[in-house]
Amino acid sequence: MIPQYKFKEGLEDIVAGTSSICFIDGIQGRLVYRGYDIKDLVNGSFEETLFLLWRGKLPTATQLKEFNEELVSHRVVNPDILRHLNDLPRQGHPMDHLRTAVSINGIYNKTGSSTGEVEENLNAMRLTAKFPTFVAALYRFSKGLSPILPRDDLSHADNFLYMMFGERQPDLFVKAMDMGLILHADHEFNASTFSAREIASTMSDMYSAVTGAIGALKGPLHGGANEAVMRMLLDIGNMSNIEPWLAKARSERRKIMGFGHRVYKTKDPRAVVLESMSEEIGIATKNRSWFDMSRSIEAYMLNSDKPIYPNVDFYSASMYYQMGIPFELFTPIFAVSRIAGWSAHILEQHARNRIIRPAAEYTGPESLTYIPITDR
Ligand SMILES: CC(C)(COP(=O)(O)OP(=O)(O)OC[C@H]1O[C@@H](n2cnc3c(N)ncnc32)[C@H](O)[C@@H]1OP(=O)(O)O)[C@@H](O)C(=O)NCCC(=O)NCCS
Repeated sequence: MIPQYKFKEGLEDIVAGTSSICFIDGIQGRLVYRGYDIKDLVNGSFEETLFLLWRGKLPTATQLKEFNEELVSHRVVNPDILRHLNDLPRQGHPMDHLRTAVSINGIYNKTGSSTGEVEENLNAMRLTAKFPTFVAALYRFSKGLSPILPRDDLSHADNFLYMMFGERQPDLFVKAMDMGLILHADHEFNASTFSAREIASTMSDMYSAVTGAIGALKGPLHGGANEAVMRMLLDIGNMSNIEPWLAKARSERRKIMGFGHRVYKTKDPRAVVLESMSEEIGIATKNRSWFDMSRSIEAYMLNSDKPIYPNVDFYSASMYYQMGIPFELFTPIFAVSRIAGWSAHILEQHARNRIIRPAAEYTGPESLTYIPITDR
């Protein structure tokens, strides 16, 4: 007798575990990290959010200072690893290169395969500190430029932009990057985080779990959507083309990137914050056309027979682009933030681990008779 399991497409609404890290209210449009609404957390810093996600509470000023000093001390990447990355073929996507960077980094780290609590907490710190250094170096390699050493007097966001462009960026851009990092830091059992937990549940290590998570984030239905949004905006090109472009795409039943969500049945609360930040940057740079187009696209999508709301990837695209960031880097930047959540979830998974091993509803044939190959 074959056991029968009932399956739900896309595992929609299936509760796959418990977690005290992140809560989403998809009806009201609220996102909460460890009890704190992201609308409040964006008034702090990414470093503060990181402390909260890992340690479960907000830091005092002294705790944050000490925490930050430790984080900063892990920013530099071994030059041998950078040499490997510079030798990679140029045609790969930066997400492929980032995935490889994390994997190589795990081999270089003597405790890279450890799942002990102390080593794993340290590896979370090491990886999170190095993600901006990796992404900035990969960007510069792609331009034939040398990587820039991190500065230990700058915040996570400020230093990241500095390493990418080779000079400090305006305060408003640093603020936008910092807010972007806070808003993308965690999102419950999203596809990449669940992938990371799944891998970690075999008692594999943090580097392996994060490498897998990067692969999941790359897809256009998940983190890859921010790049896809910018490609869409560029393809539409101008305001007058919005209606015909969208009408055609909708009639062909194509997905409009940056819209829709499995959990939110209203506007993604992260999109609300990013929308105003994108507008502010558009005004400051006197180049608000991408923001204005985005707002018109949202209006079109909301006025249709079946309204579909924007998600986190919609307004982040115009925001980053107006800051002069090339669209190939949008998803790697998402990863620079989401390493916070991935590592928090890997630590939580390992703290009370049981292997994640779901079942499949079998739909194949049964009891067939095997005929030797000579008789077939
Ligand atoms: C996020 C996403 C993958 C969620 O997928 P899901 O929960 O499986 O939802 P579905 O794809 O089944 O969509 C449900 C319905 O809404 C429609 N829909 C969802 N997102 C849509 C979009 N972006 N554009 C057009 N229609 C969309 C589907 O066509 C479907 O319609 P139907 O019931 O008439 O067939 C999906 O909304 C999507 O592909 N969005 C675009 C990619 C994106 O922005 N991803 C980033 C997510 S943060």
